[in-house]
Amino acid sequence: MALREIIILPDRQLRLVSKPVEKVTTEIRKLADDMFETMYDAPGIGLAAIQVAQPLRLITMDLAKKSEDGETRPQPRVFINPEIVSSSEELSVYEEGCLSIPEYYEEVERPAQVRIRFTDLDGKVHEEDAEGLFATCIQHEIDHLNGVLFVDYLSKLKRDRVIKKFTKAARRAAE
Ligand code: NI
Repeated sequence: MALREIIILPDRQLRLVSKPVEKVTTEIRKLADDMFETMYDAPGIGLAAIQVAQPLRLITMDLAKKSEDGETRPQPRVFINPEIVSSSEELSVYEEGCLSIPEYYEEVERPAQVRIRFTDLDGKVHEEDAEGLFATCIQHEIDHLNGVLFVDYLSKLKRDRVIKKFTKAARRAAE
């Protein structure tokens, strides 16, 4: 496993539409391993391959909570070529953040439940219902595969402000 660099706003690659994974190869497994290491190190709960500059429809996620004994047991999950099959009309609001927009959090409203279809690392296709944090997180990550960021759901004023802030920071870093 190896840590990969997470690309940050305003990197244009974040706006790419990622390509489907044709086959679960050794390279894809290696990429997923690296993404887990990178995600846990960050730390974060979800990561799309494009965030490590790989425009492939691959997501890693771990929504493990602390159990009663205070331990957190990892629950790594991989979603390959994930799609939203259906969405509830009911909406829910979560404060979202993104490893590509560090230390910025805003509330976003999304469908409260979604049904998803995805392929696992064994190449098997699954359908699953998601709600709560899982529903929000999978929608956020699938958006990444389509070049969409959570700041796109904010008012133009807020979005312009955060993009400007990160663009200035990138310019300063490059000096
Ligand atoms: Ni994100």
